[in-house]
Amino acid sequence: RRRSRGALADRPLSTPPLAWTPEVERATAHLYERVRTVIPPVEWPTMAPTIHAINELKRERNAVILAHNYQAPEIFHCVADVVGDSLQLARDATKVKADIIVQCGVHFMAETSKILNPEKTVLIPDSRAGCSLAEAITAEDVRLLRDRFPGVPVVAYVNTSADVKAEVDICCTSSNAIAVVESLNAERVIFLPDQYLARYVAAHSKVQIIAWKGACEVHERFTGDELRSYRAIDPAVQIIAHPECPPDVIAEADFTGSTAHMIDWVRTRRPKRIIMVTECSMADNVKAELPDVEFVRPCNLCPHMKRITLPKILDSLINLTEEVTIDPAIAARARQSVEWMIHLKS
Ligand code: 13P
Ligand code: SF4
Repeated sequence: RRRSRGALADRPLSTPPLAWTPEVERATAHLYERVRTVIPPVEWPTMAPTIHAINELKRERNAVILAHNYQAPEIFHCVADVVGDSLQLARDATKVKADIIVQCGVHFMAETSKILNPEKTVLIPDSRAGCSLAEAITAEDVRLLRDRFPGVPVVAYVNTSADVKAEVDICCTSSNAIAVVESLNAERVIFLPDQYLARYVAAHSKVQIIAWKGACEVHERFTGDELRSYRAIDPAVQIIAHPECPPDVIAEADFTGSTAHMIDWVRTRRPKRIIMVTECSMADNVKAELPDVEFVRPCNLCPHMKRITLPKILDSLINLTEEVTIDPAIAARARQSVEWMIHLKS
């Protein structure tokens, strides 16, 4: 039987030996099969002992790992129990049975898991894993917007702090932003904090959007010119983009969608050659699954997502750090905004 939480499950453990032994090689061989196209064999012995230790400790701690699509392949394919875009991770966070959630993603994602699981321990392996969008707006800013536009409903992208979620009417992700805005049956909606996602929603809906000025530091670096130059070299290349990209980038794309929708598009279409205009670890994760697809990579990494590493995940499970905490009153109000979104059909 799995150990239930108690003094023993809560205690810090000591670091297990991390050696490349025949036992580790055997126990992780099936995991290497998943990533062999993106992790060279010479690197595997440096990762496998930590992967093995993490997977053992997860059982001992009764913990699950939720990982975003931007996590590195050794995390995404070898230690995660649940992977997905922000909406999938939020939905799956409501179904977790384990005592501990280790969030491999950025801080707002860990906060969302805590908001939905107030009684569970939620850990993030590095609490400095922030997000330029979440940093772009405060709860006080939302209160000022409400004063300025009385009665106008407020939609917050999930890439916001719990404090901000507590001030808004409903959350959305890049998967459901249009559906969420339209579900409000309002003429005007305040949409924050991503100006580009706001423009994308405005372009696909009749609702008048009042936007904030935030931007994703990773997606705003892509340009339409850059994509046109790829097309000039290879007119057959397929280009798919995340809606956090600027409008001239989206105008060049054959498809726009959340990270999960982008992955599904590649899975079903199986293009010969593709550019995924988003954080570039995602191309590795999909390549590992679909080795026949060639990924052209204008590589922009999210420095926050990349703070999460195998050694930090192991440390997190050993020492039960860093625990995500939210003032219960704020969490209760934020929960209403997140749950309303989760229960919307989209
Ligand atoms: P998704 O919800 O599409 O995974 O996006 C999250 C994110 O942070 C994109 O930069
Ligand atoms: Fe935030 Fe952009 Fe990183 Fe996503 S990619 S977590 S939006 S900074």
